[in-house]
Amino acid sequence: MVRMGLIGAGTMGRSYARAFAQCRSAELIAICDLDLRKARSLGRRSGVRSLYADYNEMLRSEELDAVTVATPDFHHRKPAIACLRAGKHVLCEKPLATTLRDCAAIRDAVAKYGRKLMINFANRHKRQIYSIKQRLDAGELGKVENAFIQLREPLYKTRTLEWVEKTTPTFFLLSHCTDTVLYLLGGAPREVYARANYGVLSSQGLNTPDTVIAVLTLDNGATIAMDANWIMPKGFAPNIDFTLELIGQKGAIYSKLRSDDLMLYTNRPSNVDYEGGAVDPLGTTRGWWLDSVYYFVECLESDVEPAPGAEEGMQVTRVLLAIEESARKGKIVKL
Ligand SMILES: NC(=O)c1ccc[n+]([C@@H]2O[C@H](COP(=O)([O-])OP(=O)(O)OC[C@H]3O[C@@H](n4cnc5c(N)ncnc54)[C@H](O)[C@@H]3O)[C@@H](O)[C@H]2O)c1
Repeated sequence: MVRMGLIGAGTMGRSYARAFAQCRSAELIAICDLDLRKARSLGRRSGVRSLYADYNEMLRSEELDAVTVATPDFHHRKPAIACLRAGKHVLCEKPLATTLRDCAAIRDAVAKYGRKLMINFANRHKRQIYSIKQRLDAGELGKVENAFIQLREPLYKTRTLEWVEKTTPTFFLLSHCTDTVLYLLGGAPREVYARANYGVLSSQGLNTPDTVIAVLTLDNGATIAMDANWIMPKGFAPNIDFTLELIGQKGAIYSKLRSDDLMLYTNRPSNVDYEGGAVDPLGTTRGWWLDSVYYFVECLESDVEPAPGAEEGMQVTRVLLAIEESARKGKIVKL
């Protein structure tokens, strides 16, 4: 049984608590949040009794094998390194970090303390991605010349993010798009051109773009158009719309990367659970996001290096920073 700790009892922390509650090979032992009330509330709901406001104290006091870091994007470095230093494996929320310096510090700590670290780019565990990856690797599409990837979310969801002004659609959404295309297409990023549009969120006093559109080229010749938007209306039926199109010299793949193609239209805004879960006849929730968490646990149990690790995470952040720089300067940024 893998003994897990959790740092960050917010939106994703709640999802992790649910994931570990039904996991046969891992148990959530302790929860930490700077705001102890949040840790207590999640502890009450998930039956976890060891609650902390300070992760160093949690790491000193608890016998843990691994820790999930689910703090805001720009605050992954310190908790991730503290866990690695304490000899714990780390499941880190995406993106790895928001600066190259933070990424490098985490990568170096992985090497120094010899623990495993996986970034939870959970979209890699969608069934469509499993299938697309196999087909690409088998050469069914031939050389991929261009791709389109789009991630759109509704405004009401964006507004639930307490640190929305400290992030952008680049870090929050294009991180998923970037990891997905680099994973599928391989190759090294060469250059980026991006534009950011401001309007709805800035009119609400929030200094962050509504949309970011980027064109990324890879050294293997592929050109990728990436489109992120987080101001879609409440009635936006897919709720989270993730679309991928790959055009190769021998074939093309179009995929809606939704957990399934079930569309439900009611008076309520959301019809797709972020965890992509559906309950099976035995009462177990199954879905791609949970598969990603359980893949990490399985890797620990079988001593396999989970992916993506720090190096791949750093590559994604390098692209994200170039996108931000390009949008700011209105120029192509070389990588
Ligand atoms: N919200 C989403 O839809 C979503 C989806 C996928 C991934 N993520 C990623 O998950 C991570 C967390 O996002 P979230 O939406 O859950 O954020 P959140 O704001 O809901 O929760 C983060 C929690 O971390 C706590 N925290 C901050 N610093 C801390 C520290 N030093 N020690 C202990 N606790 C600390 C905060 O008090 C807060 O409760 C981010 O990297 C984000 O990009 C979020």
